[in-house]
Amino acid sequence: MTERLVLGICGSLRRGSYNAALLRLVSRVGPGLTVAGGDLAGRLPLFNPDVEGDEHRWPDSVHAFRHLAARASGLVIATPEYAHGPAGVTKNAIDWLVGSGGLVGRPTLLMSASPGQAGGMRAHAPLMPTLTLLGAVLVDCVVVSRAGSRVDAQGEYEDPAVVERMRLAVAELEAALSYADRRSGGLSLPGSG
Ligand SMILES: Cc1cc2nc3c(=O)[nH]c(=O)nc-3n(C[C@H](O)[C@H](O)[C@H](O)COP(=O)(O)O)c2cc1C
Repeated sequence: MTERLVLGICGSLRRGSYNAALLRLVSRVGPGLTVAGGDLAGRLPLFNPDVEGDEHRWPDSVHAFRHLAARASGLVIATPEYAHGPAGVTKNAIDWLVGSGGLVGRPTLLMSASPGQAGGMRAHAPLMPTLTLLGAVLVDCVVVSRAGSRVDAQGEYEDPAVVERMRLAVAELEAALSYADRRSGGLSLPGSG
């Protein structure tokens, strides 16, 4: 099985975060995926182009995040919805990737979880133009509503509907990652001559 490194961005700093649990679920249902860096987004400083422009001023968290982004084949974002928009932590992490070119062609899953009925889905739309601009390839969006009722005592998703939905999303991600591999290997598309 091909092991693939995927950059994780968790937009929540909350202990017991339902969004952090979504990233863990990706690893659980996708044994061929290594999701790394999920906790880094919350340790990044507020984005500052002056600091970004001078690598000597990068704190360790930025080095680690940019290094992972450069090596990762894909991206998985799990973001809370705050006041009908994405968490600032999520957007801040993405801002740290703008200058890296690291998202071009990267298959991406966008996810949210919330105790509410909408599952945080209103956090997605504002991020889509940004991800598109950066060249990320959005393969699926996962929304988990009433998240508190879907986790077990350890805070892990055991609800069969959530686990099955994630299996589908991860299968899409893995297919897109393997397509991206073949494309970068210069193989022609079926039927393209
Ligand atoms: C200031 C604040 C604003 C929030 N706004 C929304 C919202 O607009 N829509 C929503 O579904 N949930 C909202 N919530 C609830 C969060 O979705 C909920 O706290 C969720 O569990 C956060 O994600 P986490 O579990 O990963 O920390 C808000 C929570 C806070 C603290």
